Amino acid sequence: MQISRKVGQTDMQINTPEGYIMKPLIIYFSRTQNTISLAEAMAKSVGADLLLADKVTEADLAGRRLVGLGSGIYWMKHHPSLFELVDKIPVGCKTFVFASSGFTAKAVVNMAQGRLKHKLQQRHIEVIGQWSCPGHDKMYPVVYLGLNKGRPNQQDIDDAQAFASRMLLICSEN
Ligand SMILES: Cc1cc2nc3c(=O)[nH]c(=O)nc-3n(C[C@H](O)[C@H](O)[C@H](O)COP(=O)(O)O)c2cc1C
Repeated sequence: MQISRKVGQTDMQINTPEGYIMKPLIIYFSRTQNTISLAEAMAKSVGADLLLADKVTEADLAGRRLVGLGSGIYWMKHHPSLFELVDKIPVGCKTFVFASSGFTAKAVVNMAQGRLKHKLQQRHIEVIGQWSCPGHDKMYPVVYLGLNKGRPNQQDIDDAQAFASRMLLICSEN
């Protein structure tokens, strides 16, 4: 499989041996609007389609070779709408997960992201990477503490874009 870049455009696509040309798909849910900026930045950097999780249909997923799934972390896991989509992801599709979260300790974020990863892996869907950054916690009454205020920031957006580009490269190399 190879990736192709149309000259003069940022639009990158995956050419499969079968000849399909299918854009990556980024699926997100954002309860308080932090993760949406990350999802948009990722989609822009790899020319992916971008869809809100509860709007995704099986037709949107059919034939995809690379799908990214991300949301805020709520009650120590991704939003339920992402879990509900796992059964619709085509076998053979590579995936990555991403999040913004109130807690920043690596072990805690890994555990939270691990739940969605586990469900994907139970279906033998390959997870090729995970990424996260702090997100301003707007849950009442935590909002008054100003936890992670100003995040995601521009550095987070840049990191998210670099991560998505790496995911596309890994997908294209396999
Ligand atoms: C209802 C609610 C529950 C949350 N639960 C957690 C949690 O369990 N762990 C955590 O690290 N952050 C938690 N947070 C913080 C969010 O993960 C963080 O603010 C994230 O950036 C929100 O993303 P969003 O703006 O895209 O919805 C919670 C926030 C809300 C609003």
